[in-house]
Amino acid sequence: MSSLAQNYLELEEQYSAHNYHPIPAVINRGEGFYVWDVEGKRYYDFLSGYSALNHGHCHPKIVKVFLEQAQALTLTSRAFHTNWFGEYAKFVTEYFGYDKVLPMNTGVEAVETAIKLCRKWAYEVKGIKNEQATIVVCEDNFHGRTSTVISFSSDPDAKNNFGPYAPGFISIPYNDVDALAKVLENKNIAGFLVEPIQGEAGVIVPDDGYLAKTKQLCEEANVLFIADEIQTGLCRSGKMLACDYENVHADILILGKALGGGMMPVSAVLADDEIMLTIKPGQHGSTYAGNPLACRVAITALEVLKQENMAENAYNMGELLRNELNGIHSKHISVIRGKGLLNAIVIDHPDHNAAWKLCLALKENGLLAKPTHGDKIRLAPPLIITEDQLTECIAIIKKSLSCLD
Ligand SMILES: Cc1ncc(COP(=O)(O)O)c(C=O)c1O
Repeated sequence: MSSLAQNYLELEEQYSAHNYHPIPAVINRGEGFYVWDVEGKRYYDFLSGYSALNHGHCHPKIVKVFLEQAQALTLTSRAFHTNWFGEYAKFVTEYFGYDKVLPMNTGVEAVETAIKLCRKWAYEVKGIKNEQATIVVCEDNFHGRTSTVISFSSDPDAKNNFGPYAPGFISIPYNDVDALAKVLENKNIAGFLVEPIQGEAGVIVPDDGYLAKTKQLCEEANVLFIADEIQTGLCRSGKMLACDYENVHADILILGKALGGGMMPVSAVLADDEIMLTIKPGQHGSTYAGNPLACRVAITALEVLKQENMAENAYNMGELLRNELNGIHSKHISVIRGKGLLNAIVIDHPDHNAAWKLCLALKENGLLAKPTHGDKIRLAPPLIITEDQLTECIAIIKKSLSCLD
């Protein structure tokens, strides 16, 4: 590593909180599926900003509206109206088929919003007694980092020594329909919050039918089905939404990450009036939420997903990736799983640092990926990747695996 790159690492080490452990690559440029480091070396980006970069880096159409809007108006707060918020609200609600949207910025804020909406609905529409509303979540979930949301995490790193924890949640095993059926006997259950594929846990894909069956159980129990599609949504899984695989229309839909086109934090909560209108002026909000820059970026990001057939490409390239990886028959890979371009491999090796070492070898060979939970590596390139590029990436993965021999 050059002294220039080393200097950037040292600055972060000395002046930033140590809440991340990055792969030692210092990036200063991105275009499409590529990024370049400060030494000019080019890499394939196989993390895509944890799925925020579905469109690739600096998509020209998104950059164009971003610059245009940045020179016109960026923020008023929702104290005033803007010429873009209403347009965006109409666009995004029609796009996903809901009555209303509540805009937020980061993913976890949208999750918090969904929790608050669900509780409001529980008290004011369903009729659960005050303070009793309970939300069912799944073990190994990842919904973000606020103190409420980590209260129902089962990951010790996310949770330990951050207590006291917020009450009001019950955790059940993921991909277990019977566990949900049983817990729904409790009449204080207001909602079921679920990731259609558990991304952070290592891309855990539930059995076919899980989403449809759990949605039906929720309907029968008058419980809101809340889909966290922050990572799985916006074509990542090979459909516009991962719930689309089972024709499930969530009662509350949570979006984030790629909604901001990889350019700025934009998240959204969508629901119908019976739920959304329980929140009245002054009861919830955020200074930057729904700002005109975010609105324009989000409209364009959503348009580009359809114009460039990203769901179809993610579906096809995902099939190719998994088939080719399976064809390698590497003794170091125990599992290859995923849907669309949200995939993970699980490394099988006596060295508990093997996944990290493999990521360093991938980096040397021109591909950036990051391990999660020790032995898993997410493979999630931008959705614009072509067959030729993917073939090149598979060759890089194959070559890099030899570092574990
Ligand atoms: C499913 C899911 N929900 C919520 C979040 C939190 O989003 P953010 O980091 O933007 O707060 C993430 C982030 O990885 C996620 O994958």
